[in-house]
Amino acid sequence: MDNEEGKRIDVIAVDGLAGTGKSTLASRLSERLGMSHLDTGASFRMAALVLIQKGIAPDENEKMIEAISQVEMAFENGASYINGLDVSRDIRSEKVSSMASKIAVSPEIRRTLLEWQRAWVDAHGASVVEGRDIGSVVFPEALVKVYLYADDSVRSKRRTESSAEGLRERDQRDLNREAAPTVQVQDSVVIDTTLLEPEKVEELVAQLWMVRRPTED
Ligand code: DC
Repeated sequence: MDNEEGKRIDVIAVDGLAGTGKSTLASRLSERLGMSHLDTGASFRMAALVLIQKGIAPDENEKMIEAISQVEMAFENGASYINGLDVSRDIRSEKVSSMASKIAVSPEIRRTLLEWQRAWVDAHGASVVEGRDIGSVVFPEALVKVYLYADDSVRSKRRTESSAEGLRERDQRDLNREAAPTVQVQDSVVIDTTLLEPEKVEELVAQLWMVRRPTED
């Protein structure tokens, strides 16, 4: 599995803003298709938690990279671990959400996490990978690329832990940052999940995968 040489990548890339249904779709697909599931947002959140714990500000680039390189981050079966400690709940706080969004503008942070994300897929094989820049930057050769969209009112209902204002602020950073902003790439399939049932969205993408998936020959 190597995307540097334009080879086929056994990845379903699921991109979109917060609350558009990425996690629901990715976990349903991974279960149905027997693929691994990586939530790249969790890697940004784990990095953010490390920096909060160490008191490092989001503009201290060198210190940020050093601190992140000193810890071991893992993501297994939907749970996040820092140095073996389960931090799945800790990374969902509003404070971590805000810090994750701030550090995500740093090209150095993005490069460090991109390497971690690619290594994760190398180790786990065929994967459903959700995030913001998966189809555009992390796995541009993904076999299937999906971009999810949903109306703001539905998104903030889905993200009950976030204030509408917090969500708006993060949207602005996600969409407008210079390094790997959230974009809908040309070869992605756009799905509006505002009114669609999760099983319908799953069905659509699973069908797409069945058509494009690698065959054993
Ligand atoms: O999907 P999430 O809300 O858990 O992501 C947390 C933050 O990480 C979000 O503000 C955007 C950032 N992020 C990113 O920039 N690129 C990704 N591939 C995934 C997340």
